[in-house]
Amino acid sequence: MGKIRFIKTESPKAKPDQKNLGFGRYFTDHMFLMNYDEGQGWHDPRIVPYGPFELEPSAMVLHYAQEVFEGMKAYRRADGGIQLFRPLENIRRMNVSCERLCIPQIDEEIFMEALLELVKLDQDWVPTEPDTSLYIRPFVFATEPQVGVHASRSYIFCIITCPVGAYYPEGLNPVKIYVESRDVRAVRGGMGYAKTGGNYAATLRAGEAAIAEGFSQVLWLDGIHRKYIEEVGSMNVLFKIDGEVVTPPLGGSILPGITRSSCLHILKHWGIPVSERPITVDELFEAAEQGRLEEAFGSGTAAVISPIGKIVYGDKSEILSGGKIGPLAAKLYDYLTAIQWGRVEDPFGWTVRVV
Ligand code: COI
Repeated sequence: MGKIRFIKTESPKAKPDQKNLGFGRYFTDHMFLMNYDEGQGWHDPRIVPYGPFELEPSAMVLHYAQEVFEGMKAYRRADGGIQLFRPLENIRRMNVSCERLCIPQIDEEIFMEALLELVKLDQDWVPTEPDTSLYIRPFVFATEPQVGVHASRSYIFCIITCPVGAYYPEGLNPVKIYVESRDVRAVRGGMGYAKTGGNYAATLRAGEAAIAEGFSQVLWLDGIHRKYIEEVGSMNVLFKIDGEVVTPPLGGSILPGITRSSCLHILKHWGIPVSERPITVDELFEAAEQGRLEEAFGSGTAAVISPIGKIVYGDKSEILSGGKIGPLAAKLYDYLTAIQWGRVEDPFGWTVRVV
């Protein structure tokens, strides 16, 4: 511990109105940086004023997208303290993503120290309004100035933070989605399980088309058979069918969501049957037509729980839970957020205090 160098800002910014934060629009006063150079390894961890990078136009990330990122949050507790939720899971997942993208591993201890020190320094930015938090975005990108295709020999690891409200303007109101039939997000053997920008770039065309047609996002199918459900928008997806919660298994093309795993853990803790198994879109619509599809919702760090109120597949359309949030999604949301914001005791040891 204590390896991080600090350069504090001399011109702190005005804080935004907590009632109109939106998502990811305002950034705090500081950021964490650390460099990697071949022969030197990761070096010079520092917290400095938030500001632009200077990059060579030939920096490899700009050409070959060698980049990974994470998403996590710091929560303001009712007692005024601040806590993180399962940060070690994010740290470990980022190293899994790094491995897939040939980026050198980041030491878990320095990563954790960076998170704690950065949030502590910018603690006045952690909002206090209900359902707001400080979103934390760690990311690593390739900086070597070289246009040949190979793994970069230099990188920057950066952490920025931003006070946020709800990810979707709908908040906890159910979203409308349709099943995407043209584009796929990822295939097994590709990078789907890694949190890397390219996976999100692949979703933009369908996402924009969905918004243009009055939907919030799309339901992704697998890239080979085009029939197995994978994710929804940039979240994992869970369905309650015949009293059982069903979610697609992590087969390499799906992001291993930390909110997903937390939901499954809580559901099992409550004694609700849970099944991680392949589910086809035809099975889903058949269950919906027969009234057996009780609820559907997405899960993710940014959105937490996002209920699905309407789902369209070609010329078929189904309204779920009467277009309202279902009781199980509501109960999960209440309990998960109560743990995250420290409103109830955390029986699973998931939270880490910052201050
Ligand atoms: C998250 O849920 O944290 C994400 O990374 C999704 C999105 C904001 C990219």
